[in-house]
Amino acid sequence: MLDRKVAQLLSQQVNKEFYSAYLYLDFSNYYYGEGLDGFGSWYKIQAQEERDHAMLFMQYLQNNGEKVVLEAIDKPSAALDSAKAVLAEALEHERYVTGLIHEIYDAAYGVKDFRTMQFLDWFVKEQGEEETNAEGLIKKFELFGDDPKSLYMLDNEMAGRTYAAPSLTL
Ligand code: FEO
Repeated sequence: MLDRKVAQLLSQQVNKEFYSAYLYLDFSNYYYGEGLDGFGSWYKIQAQEERDHAMLFMQYLQNNGEKVVLEAIDKPSAALDSAKAVLAEALEHERYVTGLIHEIYDAAYGVKDFRTMQFLDWFVKEQGEEETNAEGLIKKFELFGDDPKSLYMLDNEMAGRTYAAPSLTL
């Protein structure tokens, strides 16, 4: 049996990760609309990864005998003002998610729930990578985004991303 607070935060995270998937699908949709199909594809894959994260939290709860209740997913709230602004929204969102993961970790730490801490270790690392990726994309866009030819090449580079299932299995 998990601690109630830990279980509640883990359950909430299922919804937050599905929301992340929804948010990134919105970004993907935006970029396709702008003719930046590489960015569109990149965020579509990011959405798949977020769905995987949600499934991992769900699986972990199920493995621990917890009943999972799926809540409504909010409408994506980011203002899609420009191709660059969306990248900034992504970084802000990832920082927010990092905070959520840390909050669960902190609750698990408080009740000496070492198993949950070990489960969350993968997400702590993943969040570090996602923040780095988001920062990197902003930097690249600052360097190349204003020149149409360079942006075309950057978009092609973004199209090269392929989906990979998470390295964490439960
Ligand atoms: Fe599942 Fe991008 O955090």
